Amino acid sequence: MQPFLQAMNFRHACKKFDPQQKIAEADFQQILEFGRLSPSSFGMEHWRFVVVQTPELREKLREQCWNQPQITDSSHVMVILAKSAAVEPGSTYVKQLFGRRGLPVEAEQAYLERYAAHNASEIAPYMNTFAWASKQCYIALANMMTGAASLGIDSCPIEGFSKAGVEEVLGVDTAQYGVAVVVAFGYRAGEQTSRLRQPLAELVEYR
Ligand SMILES: Cc1cc2nc3c(=O)[nH]c(=O)nc-3n(C[C@H](O)[C@H](O)[C@H](O)COP(=O)(O)O)c2cc1C
Repeated sequence: MQPFLQAMNFRHACKKFDPQQKIAEADFQQILEFGRLSPSSFGMEHWRFVVVQTPELREKLREQCWNQPQITDSSHVMVILAKSAAVEPGSTYVKQLFGRRGLPVEAEQAYLERYAAHNASEIAPYMNTFAWASKQCYIALANMMTGAASLGIDSCPIEGFSKAGVEEVLGVDTAQYGVAVVVAFGYRAGEQTSRLRQPLAELVEYR
């Protein structure tokens, strides 16, 4: 089977991790790299990856995550924060990230204007900046999970949490960031649930 398909088939939302099995540091760094290399709208890299390691913090985090055991039993837990203030049009961060492209001044200015115009007409009317940034974070999430699967590492994406609660536990500066999603990585303990998916015919249309 093709390696990518193999990884897609291996990945599932792992409900039960083996608490004894830890991910090797080199493998975890590789997973972080999959996140770092992910694409994002306008290349704004809307994410910050917070790896929660201490047992005390994990316990507190679990309380805010519907008491889900993956939070304490997995090898590594990551809270993905979405940048909000930083990616607003006109911010220093936006200027820096366009600036690193090394474009001529006029071209950079055109990008900044396009960014602001796109935000005004296509983002702001439909969602706030946090929601837009969170969409980008989910791309990194998916790449890290499938990438982890390619290394034989299991994961569970977690949206079952209190956003305010997780932010409080981690002391997140909510003027700058919001919690987009949580993800646990580790190794499965025993059999996993079978995969449920609708057939392609239900999902695809051609025009
Ligand atoms: C964004 C997101 C949030 C999720 N949140 C949770 C969660 O809080 N707890 C959980 O056990 N599973 C969670 N899941 C797992 C889904 O229930 C699971 O992906 C879906 O049922 C399909 O199963 P599979 O991933 O094993 O193929 C989440 C999945 C996604 C994509």
